[in-house]
Amino acid sequence: MSVNNFITLPYKLERDPPPFEANDIKYPEPLVRHFLKEFTKRGDKIFDPFAGLGTTLFVAEEMGRIPFGIEYDERRFEWVAGQMRHWGNLACGDSLKLAKLGFPKMDFCMTSPPFMPKGDKWNPLSAGNPAKAGYATYLKQMQKIFTQVGGVMKKNARIVVHVDNIPGRIYTPLVRDLSIAVGDVLSLENEIVVAWKNAKPDYPHTHCLVFRNR
Ligand SMILES: C[S@@+](CC[C@H](N)C(=O)[O-])C[C@H]1O[C@@H](n2cnc3c(N)ncnc32)[C@H](O)[C@@H]1O
Repeated sequence: MSVNNFITLPYKLERDPPPFEANDIKYPEPLVRHFLKEFTKRGDKIFDPFAGLGTTLFVAEEMGRIPFGIEYDERRFEWVAGQMRHWGNLACGDSLKLAKLGFPKMDFCMTSPPFMPKGDKWNPLSAGNPAKAGYATYLKQMQKIFTQVGGVMKKNARIVVHVDNIPGRIYTPLVRDLSIAVGDVLSLENEIVVAWKNAKPDYPHTHCLVFRNR
């Protein structure tokens, strides 16, 4: 299937985050709907190893797909599972150990991992564990997670990773760095730039890396 590498979608957060969430982690539902429509069919198993506030899982259910996922944060896990029909398919745990969780083979994966600025020591994948600090460790852990994602995907299945570069005093080229780290274990097929139709001035576009489990 050929894929355009530039698309335009509305920036729309359709479900309110739970009242106890002050942080801004959700990705827009039209983004998930676009890729599920493009790459999946009803009944397909859809995986999100960084489920967050459940956008991938909710949209998958709404479109007649079967969602599976992992979320590290207990409060987010409970809030999402509490609203899923397939709540038993969501695990509360660490994606670094996902190979041990006994997931069935998946047809498609779409996810938005935690983004780490290069200048930080705090590694969002290890909840601040000082023994796992630093950007290089974060990239190695992302590679380890996506190796295990490959292990639960069907052969040739697609894995879409939503990612942004992070501006700042030290610019973080995360799109490039994740393409390389994950591209060593999954085959990079495309980088899609998504322009937001009703963009906020500081967030005009985003990126989706499309990998194949060869
Ligand atoms: C950017 S958010 C995902 C947001 C989600 N796409 C949504 O729309 O709600 C990343 C999530 O990954 C979770 N996370 C961080 N480290 C993790 C790990 N090692 N295993 C599983 N989940 C993890 C965080 O708690 C966070 O909720």
